[in-house]
Amino acid sequence: MSWNAILRSPMHAPRKSQLDSAAEATRQAELRAALERHALHFEEQFGRRPQALFFSPGRVNLMGAHLDYNGGPVAPMAIDRGTFFAVAARSDRLVRFASTSESGWLETRLDRLAHQRAGRWFDYPLGVLRQLAARGRAGGGVDMLFGGDLPVGAGLSSSASICVGTAYVLDQVWGVGLTALQRVELALNSEREFVGVRCGIMDPFAVGLAQSGRLLWLDCKDSSYEHLPIDHERYAVAVADSLVRRELAQSAFNQRVAEAAEAFERLRAHCPDAQVLRDIPAAVLDAHERELPAELARRARHVVSEVERTFAARQALMVGDVRAFGARMFESHRSLRELYEVSAPELDCLVDAAAASSAVCGARLTGAGFGGCVVMLVERAGAEHALEDVARAFDERFGRRPGVALFGPDAGPREITLG
Ligand code: GLA
Repeated sequence: MSWNAILRSPMHAPRKSQLDSAAEATRQAELRAALERHALHFEEQFGRRPQALFFSPGRVNLMGAHLDYNGGPVAPMAIDRGTFFAVAARSDRLVRFASTSESGWLETRLDRLAHQRAGRWFDYPLGVLRQLAARGRAGGGVDMLFGGDLPVGAGLSSSASICVGTAYVLDQVWGVGLTALQRVELALNSEREFVGVRCGIMDPFAVGLAQSGRLLWLDCKDSSYEHLPIDHERYAVAVADSLVRRELAQSAFNQRVAEAAEAFERLRAHCPDAQVLRDIPAAVLDAHERELPAELARRARHVVSEVERTFAARQALMVGDVRAFGARMFESHRSLRELYEVSAPELDCLVDAAAASSAVCGARLTGAGFGGCVVMLVERAGAEHALEDVARAFDERFGRRPGVALFGPDAGPREITLG
């Protein structure tokens, strides 16, 4: 996926009253055109027309950074950039996966699926397919072509997008009859048990349970959730991509998961009822943080304060105070930079530039960090200038343009008919 393609969509939406329907119609037309091209690629690849086309979104997380695996609340939103799927059932037991954006492809028989990951992109969908096969829910063979317009490895959850999307597509093609939560579970198991990432539950939930125009409020301690409204007429979500991709981001992420777990193990001695780090009250941390190695104390402080901030942000949103919500986003970024230590100079530069713009309500790194993207909540009226200012400030410091664009909300995985 290239940022040039993303930037082709208009930054400035039409006037307020027409905004939702006009922007939505434009996006749907773009999506149909993109999937029409995807269908042609499928034909080139497999020598026949696909039987159906599907889309599955990525996500941004607005509040609740690194809280999912600590049992805290998160507030992600599915975005209108994601994974494309073209699929056709086969009369035999062969499965073929190819991609327009990744090299290498998979060809295997349904009754001889690999038990081990290959270290390739197709591990993600294969992990989903394996579980359906293991539960006796697989139909016949399939040809599938993957692609999309979501930057990969940018913290926008391309992996949950492909996993939840694959569960959705196979569910439709094979007529399995899965619920949305079952698709989320297949995606999560694929990443955790087959691909081997210690990821939290946020990303597949954000993709699989998306409702257009709403944030998902997910309490990761008990997986309870609801959808929260946000005024998309007045405010928009923008993403600035530093284009920094760290090879070691995955192991650095796993390290944070381990540090948080260790901080919890040490603190729970003072709080026997606590089940996750999120349960540790600030007063307990105040009293005992000196007993922890300084690094672990910082990690725990981020989690405990981020839980408070995320609830405060929710409260602000419920009373329509988007500025107050945005202020919590800036605080979240500071904590991620100083306490959780997952930021990067490029991300700090983007957030600082965003803070200097009066149209920006809030900004913070999204996803795991160490590179990738900053998410911004911005007033539509000044969005175009704000994004230009952010891009210019980054360019002046690093000598290159970041990818910047407004991203609309999305309704979750679905079939796209060309009409
Ligand atoms: C990554 C993980 C998520 C979450 C975020 C940090 O994106 O996949 O589960 O932990 O980092 O909030």
